[in-house]
Amino acid sequence: MVNNLIDAYKKSPSLSIKYDTYFPVYEEILSKYRDKEITLVEVGVFNGGSLFMWREYFGAKARIIGVDLNPDAKIWEQHGFEIFIGDQASEIFWRQLFDTIGPVDVLIDDGGHTNLQQIATVHCAIEHIRDGGVLIIEDVHTSYFREFGNPWGRSFVGFASKIIDAVNSRAAALKTRRERYANRVHQVSFFESIVALHVNTKLCKKSSPTSNGAITQNASDFRYQGAIQSALFSVKNNLSVQKGGVSSQLSRLAIRGIDLLLLVLSRLELARHARYWRADIK
Ligand SMILES: C[S@@+](CC[C@H](N)C(=O)[O-])C[C@H]1O[C@@H](n2cnc3c(N)ncnc32)[C@H](O)[C@@H]1O
Repeated sequence: MVNNLIDAYKKSPSLSIKYDTYFPVYEEILSKYRDKEITLVEVGVFNGGSLFMWREYFGAKARIIGVDLNPDAKIWEQHGFEIFIGDQASEIFWRQLFDTIGPVDVLIDDGGHTNLQQIATVHCAIEHIRDGGVLIIEDVHTSYFREFGNPWGRSFVGFASKIIDAVNSRAAALKTRRERYANRVHQVSFFESIVALHVNTKLCKKSSPTSNGAITQNASDFRYQGAIQSALFSVKNNLSVQKGGVSSQLSRLAIRGIDLLLLVLSRLELARHARYWRADIK
């Protein structure tokens, strides 16, 4: 077995072209699957170079499956790889594929890289990634390609940020929960040009507050010290405990009014952080 992924890449008998920044990222995400009985699917076979690289890197116990639109990719079956021909943007293709191959530990998308192809791949494959497995989308810099209709909110990176919303929806402090991704994706990792969705249904629980039960110093929370928010929160908390009483409708109305005021006050803070957005984000 080779020492690292770059060695496996160099050892591949067929052409593969990868950005140099991808190797440490792949090492970080994938090294734990080495020498294990995993099923790996890679979308995008091309010259077969990366199929050989994955086999060299993961070892003989790994089942390596390639997916490509080009029927010529079937030639790599002679070398012990399983090859399936189909369009990664097609839900029917994905359904048939998973019916045939079963669940997957690692899925790497190095296919056509359009928004539709990347989003459809995530949507169709996420439920077929085993617990502890990972779905990796490569070359997500295409989310900034003009010729791909980007950048815009509905790019793949825009979609991935919605998955972050789903992950955060598990927070106890939030009422909403986006089931599809919230129940499967434990972690989303963003690297330059690579997004990884780490699947673990057991860890995807709604969070609950805990306490270590130790002695309190009755410290004051200074977050809104001296600010109008402090008074608004205290009125809101008092109103909340009255819920269910005779004046519960009035309380609800008052709480809504206070929430609106708090929202306006938070938005006014933008004047103070607007310059950071201008300087560092855009
Ligand atoms: C960048 S190459 C893959 C390179 C390979 N992974 C490597 O590193 O050596 C992209 C491949 O994706 C395939 N492809 C493009 N659009 C596709 C689609 N809609 N569905 C499946 N494969 C597609 C192309 O035929 C091409 O072989």
